Amino acid sequence: MKVGIDKLRFASAHQYVDMVELARARHAAPDKYTIGIGQTQMAVIPPSQDIVTLAANAAAPMLTATDLAAIDLLIVGTESGIDNSKASAIYVAHLLGLSSRCRTIEMKEACYAATAGIQLAQAHVRMHPDKKALVIGADIARYGLNTPGEPTQGGGAMAMLISADPQVLALSTESAVLSQDVMDFWRPLYHTTALVDGKYSSNIYIDYFQDVFQEYLIKTQTPAADLAALVFHLPYTKMGLKALRSVLPQVTETQQRDWLRHFEYSRKLNRRVGNLYTGSLYLSLLSLLLTDPNLRPGDQLGLFSYGSGAEGEFYTGTLQPDYQRGLDLGLPQRLQRRQRVDVTTYERAFNGQLAWVADDQQTDWQSDPHRFVLTGQQNEQRQYLDRQA
Ligand code: COA
Repeated sequence: MKVGIDKLRFASAHQYVDMVELARARHAAPDKYTIGIGQTQMAVIPPSQDIVTLAANAAAPMLTATDLAAIDLLIVGTESGIDNSKASAIYVAHLLGLSSRCRTIEMKEACYAATAGIQLAQAHVRMHPDKKALVIGADIARYGLNTPGEPTQGGGAMAMLISADPQVLALSTESAVLSQDVMDFWRPLYHTTALVDGKYSSNIYIDYFQDVFQEYLIKTQTPAADLAALVFHLPYTKMGLKALRSVLPQVTETQQRDWLRHFEYSRKLNRRVGNLYTGSLYLSLLSLLLTDPNLRPGDQLGLFSYGSGAEGEFYTGTLQPDYQRGLDLGLPQRLQRRQRVDVTTYERAFNGQLAWVADDQQTDWQSDPHRFVLTGQQNEQRQYLDRQA
């Protein structure tokens, strides 16, 4: 039985900051940001969006009444939690109108959790093929203003519907996992921005990729040449390129050119959004599927997921005949329609997120065009609005 990704859809903010402008404001060479780090634009998440609204905005438009009735598992992967006890998935399930018989949980392991969610969802659907599972990776990447990590911020949510006979990608049942205690990136409960050893985390990322890539090939006896393209978690797009380059000597020059060409398509949309932690690998997958004219049904794609701390996984999926039907076809136009804001506006949005205090608070939600918005906090409870309700 084939099980895998039936549909996938992305949501982020309606605003972005241009990376050349940000580089100038930080007295950095623009080429460092656009070439050295590989980012051209960065999503600016307004205070009226959090992981709940991003997740609901990503998923709602792609779900039919049939999907809503069949979903009995919702997993939100995130490292941008809004509550230490209650799962963001419960708010999301409510906003989406999912059944109260749906199991709803939040999962955490830095940028890796959405992949763990997909693997659990895949196992669940294999046991219950008439059911569907919704997995959403939702995050706001925050390193802090004027920090080395600042140009690798961003945010958004990737929603993926996992089902039997999927339209987009049939997933492998085998995968290779590596999990070890590494202090490359973490965020204690009292911090709103990540603590990171950036160079160290980039090195660990490559070590993990090489390890799980080789492990997968050996374990499944798959020749590297069987993989049409490799898709990476992209905290910044140069990161994936570095990892890809590290395994190029394993294949012929023709295949090296093919992998590099596919990679350029796989980073197109991520270059314009920035990091979205858990959802980043899947935005890259969507970017590849939406923009690459050289893919064919039957192609086997390799997926590398990495979460600092650290956990990595490599697995594969086979492209299905009608894969275009399950894609978020309007995404390139939505990104094009976003509003460019200046660095001051970006900094105000960054500093204006709801404070972690008990006071009642309000956001400027009226200027946010999305269907689901966070209007503020009252009596220590977040207030969400569905404009279509
Ligand atoms: N033109 C072109 N490239 C330039 C340049 C210029 N004028 N100036 C610098 N660069 C290149 C550097 O050579 C480097 O490329 P390389 O890594 O291929 O050698 C790149 O731009 C970044 O420069 P660097 O000096 O290393 O940047 P930095 O010290 O400011 O930090 C990160 C970069 C990625 C480490 C930092 O943004 C960070 O900590 N990010 C968050 C952590 C992260 O995402 N980790 C990934 C694993 S999850």
